[in-house]
Amino acid sequence: MLKEVIATRFITPLREGGSLPGLVEADDFGTYVIKFTGAGQGRKTLVAEVVCGELARRLGLRMPRLVTVELDPLLGLGEPDQQVQELLRSSSGTNLGMDFLSGALGFDPLAFEVSAEEAGRIVWFDGLVNNVDRSWRNPNLLMWQGDLWLIDHGATMIWHHNWPGAPASAARPYDIADHVLRPFGPDVAAAAAELAPLVTEELLAEVTAEIPDTWLADEAGFDTPDELRRAYARPLIARAAVIHERITGVEGAK
Ligand SMILES: Nc1ncnc2c1ncn2[C@@H]1O[C@H](COP(=O)(O)OP(=O)(O)O)[C@@H](O)[C@H]1O
Ligand SMILES: [Mg+2]
Repeated sequence: MLKEVIATRFITPLREGGSLPGLVEADDFGTYVIKFTGAGQGRKTLVAEVVCGELARRLGLRMPRLVTVELDPLLGLGEPDQQVQELLRSSSGTNLGMDFLSGALGFDPLAFEVSAEEAGRIVWFDGLVNNVDRSWRNPNLLMWQGDLWLIDHGATMIWHHNWPGAPASAARPYDIADHVLRPFGPDVAAAAAELAPLVTEELLAEVTAEIPDTWLADEAGFDTPDELRRAYARPLIARAAVIHERITGVEGAK
């Protein structure tokens, strides 16, 4: 289970993001980026954040620590923005939190260098989870203390929106034509050799155990949260073995 903190103060909304995340202070004195369970995208976005974030970190990629944030809707009472107030009100209970990397800069491919090895690991990982949100328009990568950090895995694993079609959907290739790291000549083959063997049933069991039960309840076709956890693991295990051969749009990379 992820560490649980209780929000003690809502600091500010983060206007850059489409899902209107915010900053909160918590009872452990930490500052967290909070993603709301009441946001339009729904709780599956939060499940995707947990599965991909926890998997990325275990594969050695830099990914801020995740926690769950218990939110008392009363915290929103003093919030002047009505949209934010409604979001706080509809998000009582368990939300997602991420360590706030204070002073981080958005990744700019023209301003920073990335090695072919590191680009390869990130592209391979994005292929594994089918991340459609790492484009040059919207990289969802941060530079912090001289290193590249991954954030925002809400738009991944498209197959979890239609479980009966998941095996067919997860068999599809991954296109990197718009990927922000394509110009760095990502060494996907090296990344696959290093990372694919790590994506085991045991590792996925550990990763999916981090998803709060409440975000897994009442999914059609599944009797228990653990059954749904296994459904999250299966396409990733299958994809790990083959995705490096199914990455398209590489042409033109330098
Ligand atoms: N852990 C973090 N530390 C610092 N800034 C962050 C962090 N997470 C997100 N941000 C900032 O908030 C913005 C929106 O977050 P993101 O996770 O991309 O949300 P969205 O799903 O709305 O796109 C990011 O582009 C970044 O500027
Ligand atoms: Mg984003």
